[in-house]
Amino acid sequence: MPIRLHINIDHVATLRNARGTRYPDPIEAAFVCERAGADGITAHLREDRRHMTDRDIERLRESIATLLNLEMAATDEMVAIAERIKPDVITLVPERREERTTEGGLDVVGQRERIAAIVARARAARIRVSLFIAPEEAQVRASADLKVDQIELHTGEYCNAVGEQAALELERLRTAAALGATLGLDIAAGHGLTRANTPAVAAIPQVSELNIGHSILADAVFSGIGQAVIDMRESVLRGIALRP
Ligand code: PXP
Repeated sequence: MPIRLHINIDHVATLRNARGTRYPDPIEAAFVCERAGADGITAHLREDRRHMTDRDIERLRESIATLLNLEMAATDEMVAIAERIKPDVITLVPERREERTTEGGLDVVGQRERIAAIVARARAARIRVSLFIAPEEAQVRASADLKVDQIELHTGEYCNAVGEQAALELERLRTAAALGATLGLDIAAGHGLTRANTPAVAAIPQVSELNIGHSILADAVFSGIGQAVIDMRESVLRGIALRP
């Protein structure tokens, strides 16, 4: 089976919210991703709603044709939202208000009871559960003990490392992926992945899913900015008014 590519569209909403406009619409972005071959759409509903809103998640649920992966903190508020909206899968992530993006993995060892309660509620609602964890043996084993469907290995340390350190971090990912698969878990990976550092992660045999957001949006700026200028010139020269 080819590796599944799930696109995180949070930062389309970041751009929209920077101006309080209706555009760019993350749901429209999801359609473009799907038409381009994405296997799923990933979105993080943060406690402070800094990018995606509850309504965005509802609209994604109503309209996308692939699968919806809702990233969320392990809180009662978020589980209630998941029970109502019913994404195909929830990915539990650690969340701190002051962080710029998700830093570090979920402490499954330390928060076993809280996570177990959420896993039970998700299972009752027939929602798959993925845990976003660091590639550490104890976290992989604790995740398997909770009988979740999947772990998503945090690739941030690998992506930030250079030279020998990057090779070591890649080895940690390989080891964790192999252990997780042996324990019956599906293996995803994500965070900080770019066109430069993704191929080595995608080559880990047990990794069946990638979640990528920021770098794709960043690449899209440059693959699209020239056309956007051409389109604006067209509008100006021909006097054609089109909505963004
Ligand atoms: N996977 C998880 C669990 C995340 O929290 C994020 C960031 O929201 C990503 C993947 C995507 O990371 P990036 O935007 O760096 O590609």
